[in-house]
Amino acid sequence: MNINQLIQQKAENKKLSMLTCYDYSTAKLINQSNIEMVLVGDSAAMVMHGHNSTLPINIDTMAIHVASVAKGAPDKFIVADLPFMSYRKSLSENITAVEILIKAGAHAVKLEGVNGNIELIQHIVNSGVPVMGHLGLTPQAVNVLGGYRIQGKKKQAKIQIINDVKLLQDAGCFSVVLECIPKDLARQVTEAVDIITIGIGAGNDVDGQVLVIQDMLGICSDFKPKFVRRYLDAEKLFLQAFNAYDADVKEQNFPNNQESYS
Ligand code: KIV
Repeated sequence: MNINQLIQQKAENKKLSMLTCYDYSTAKLINQSNIEMVLVGDSAAMVMHGHNSTLPINIDTMAIHVASVAKGAPDKFIVADLPFMSYRKSLSENITAVEILIKAGAHAVKLEGVNGNIELIQHIVNSGVPVMGHLGLTPQAVNVLGGYRIQGKKKQAKIQIINDVKLLQDAGCFSVVLECIPKDLARQVTEAVDIITIGIGAGNDVDGQVLVIQDMLGICSDFKPKFVRRYLDAEKLFLQAFNAYDADVKEQNFPNNQESYS
């Protein structure tokens, strides 16, 4: 899957699907699926490393996740998140962060917000790297937003998001993630620009959807926002398997003779 195929798919009015992924084994499974895009999100900080926000993850840890996913999902279009602050330094440091993710195997980078990012986006795009923007709920700004809550509800905030997406398009972004905004606003944003809009908690009038893989597989049952649909109760299935193994070990049913060397 490459950027031209993604753009073509939007042109043909076919929706795009994207899932987050952070490791090789899961990426191998995704590679066998129909999903077009993989996001190595900075959500790794929360779902893989147990932090309570995306802020602590750094570029080197992101690069390890990207390299693992790139090995497992060679047929997918891989987008990597630029982590918190990695793109708010000098142009040279910002570009080094991009270079690390692309050399680790990503095809594109994603960054949050607009203010102060336009020149950088132009520079990244002019350097041959596709950029995905991220508007609405931007988790790296959680301390300014005051929590993980819906954005773009008030008139001024709606206008701001529509203006911002145009700025992202003009700067050269090929796509934008719209997180936690009203369905109507996501539709207006999608109509306002030609770039690919990918929603999460933004309704279905967008060009595609992204979900965090742990959420859609039901691995972290304590986190269930309204916009997540569970396609598997993995927590239940995993626990059943763990306890069956535990029982077999304790009853000396595992390993049996076939599973042992004579
Ligand atoms: O890091 C991430 O997983 C994301 C998605 C929520 C879009 O940015």
